[in-house]
Amino acid sequence: MSIESIRSHYGFTRAPFGKDIPPQALHGHRGHAEATARISYCISEKMIGVVTGECGSGKTVAARAAISGLDASRHTTIYLGTPGVGLRGLYGSIVAGLGGVPRFHRASLVPQTTELIATEHAERGKSVVLICDEAHLYDAETLEGLRCLSNDGMDAESRFSLILLGQPALRRRLHLGPYVALGQRVGLRYQVAPLDLAECGSYIAAHLRFAGRADTLFSDDAVGLVHQVSRGLPRMVNNLCVQALVATYSAGKAIVDESAARAAVAEVAAE
Ligand SMILES: Nc1ncnc2c1ncn2[C@@H]1O[C@H](COP(=O)(O)OP(=O)(O)O)[C@@H](O)[C@H]1O
Ligand SMILES: [Mg+2]
Repeated sequence: MSIESIRSHYGFTRAPFGKDIPPQALHGHRGHAEATARISYCISEKMIGVVTGECGSGKTVAARAAISGLDASRHTTIYLGTPGVGLRGLYGSIVAGLGGVPRFHRASLVPQTTELIATEHAERGKSVVLICDEAHLYDAETLEGLRCLSNDGMDAESRFSLILLGQPALRRRLHLGPYVALGQRVGLRYQVAPLDLAECGSYIAAHLRFAGRADTLFSDDAVGLVHQVSRGLPRMVNNLCVQALVATYSAGKAIVDESAARAAVAEVAAE
C-alpha cells in the first residue's frame, strides 16, 4: 500500500489533510475566523494580543492567515517559531529580521533592537509585527524581555504589535506575579474554540475538496466519531481522517463509514 495507490483510489490531486493549505483554501470555522480577526485587529491597533488554544487547535494557521492579509508595504512581520532560544535568541532574531547583525553583548543588543524597530517605523513607514509562537514555553527572562520591549516600543508612540501564541497555560501564567506587568498590557485575549459537529463535517469536506474530491466521502457516522474523539481539534481531525481513508482503502470500500473511523481511532489511540 503506497500513498500513490491511495491517491489514485480516491482520485485525489494532492495528499489530503496536509499542512500546506494556502490562506484562501483554509476553512473558516468560528474559532479560526475569530482568532484571525483578533490577530488582525491587534496588528492594526499595534497592541499586545494573546491567542491560546490546545495543541493542534489552529493557532499558527490563524496567525498565518492574519499575516497573509497584511499590506506588506506597511508591515514587517517577524515570526519567532522556536521558543527555547532565550532572551538573546529572541532579540537576535528580531534584529536579524530587521536586517541587522545582532550585537554580542546584551547591554547593547537591547537598545539595538528597540532602535531598529523605531527606525523601521520612522524611515520606512513600516510597523513591526512580532509573532511569538509556542510562547507557553518561554522562560521568565524572555517574557520579561518582551515586557521591556513593549515598554520602549509602545509607551510614547506605539510602533509595533506583539502576538503571543501558546497553549492554555500561557494565559494562566500571565496572571501570575512576575508576569502581571506583561499581562496587564495585553489588550486582547482569545482562546481558540474547537470545531463543533457541523463545522467538523464542513472542515473535513473542505480538506477533501482541496485535495480534489468535492463529493461526500465521509458518512455522517464517521464524521460524528471523528468529531467526538478529536474533541474538534483540527490537527487531530486530520490524523484521524487520514487513518480512516487508509482503512477504507484497505477494506476496498469507496466511502469512509463508521467502521473505518473506528479503525482509525484504534490506530491513533495506539500511537
Ligand atoms: N482553518 C483551517 N483550515 C484548514 N486546516 C486547518 C485550519 N486550522 C487548522 N488546520 C489544520 O490543523 C493543523 C494544526 O493547526 P496549527 O495552527 O498548526 O495548530 P496549533 O498551532 O494550534 O498547534 C494545521 O496543520 C492544518 O492542517
Ligand atoms: Mg502552532
